[in-house]
Amino acid sequence: MPEAAELYNAMNPWSGRSDDRFYLDLVLGAPSVLDVGCGTGTLLSQARSAGHRGRLVGVDPDADMLAQARRHADIEWMHGDMSTVSLAGFDLAVMTGHAFQCLLTDDDVLATLRGVRDALEPGGRFVFETRNPLVREWERWSESGYDFPWEGKSVRVFYEVQPIVGDVVDVVENIVADDWKRADRGQLRFISAERLSDLVVEAGLVPVAQYGDWERGPLTPDSPEIISVVQKVER
Ligand SMILES: C[S@@+](CC[C@H](N)C(=O)[O-])C[C@H]1O[C@@H](n2cnc3c(N)ncnc32)[C@H](O)[C@@H]1O
Repeated sequence: MPEAAELYNAMNPWSGRSDDRFYLDLVLGAPSVLDVGCGTGTLLSQARSAGHRGRLVGVDPDADMLAQARRHADIEWMHGDMSTVSLAGFDLAVMTGHAFQCLLTDDDVLATLRGVRDALEPGGRFVFETRNPLVREWERWSESGYDFPWEGKSVRVFYEVQPIVGDVVDVVENIVADDWKRADRGQLRFISAERLSDLVVEAGLVPVAQYGDWERGPLTPDSPEIISVVQKVER
C-alpha cells in the first residue's frame, strides 16, 4: 500500500488552478521565499522551473512529505516547523494548500506567526489562506468524493467528517483502490477572521490586505477563503 505522501501529488496535481497561479506569481516576484508547510514541494519546484533564481526554502514537519520534496535538489528543504527551525532574511513567506488549518490551537498559530516574523526581512510579507468558517464547507465534504489515477487504475477518495467541536473538524480521508485501502484521520481548524486578526497583531505582524477569493475579491461572509497578507514592519 502506498504511503499518503506518495499519493499526494497524484491527488493534488499542479493544475494552474487559481490558487496555484496566485502563489506562483507572488513567489516569482520575490528574491527569496520561504514556503511553510511546503509538503511535497510543488510550489517552489514550479517556481524554480519557471525561472526563479533566488533563495527558495521549504519547511515541513512531515518527513514523508519532505522526502518527496527532496527530489528537487535545486531547493533547500528543512524538516520541522516555525517553532523548531531558525531562519532569517526572507522577502516573502507563504503557507499554501490550507496548511495553516493544521495549526489547531492559538499557541500553534502564534508560534508559527512569530517564527515567520523572525524569518522575514523588515518589510517582508507572509501570505497564507484558511477556509472561511462562515461557509461551513466541511458539512458538504461527506457528500463529495473524487477519483484519481494511480498506476494505471482509478482510485476513489471520500471523506467522513465529524461535527465541528469548537473550531476544529475531525475528518477521515478514505482512499480506496482495487487491492488496498487507506483511512487517514486528520484535524483542521476553521479559525474566524476576527480571531486570526487578533493573533496576527499579537505576534507582532501588521495586516496589509485580506481577500475572500483568489481573484482578490473582498472578504465577505460568503467568501470561500480568508486570504491574508501580513507584514513585518521596519524597526
Ligand atoms: C495539505 S498539505 C499542503 C502542502 C503544500 N503547502 C501544498 O500546497 O501542496 C499540509 C501540510 O502542512 C504541514 N504541516 C502540518 N503541521 C504544520 C506546522 N505546524 N507547521 C508547518 N507545516 C505543517 C503538513 O505536514 C503538510 O505537509
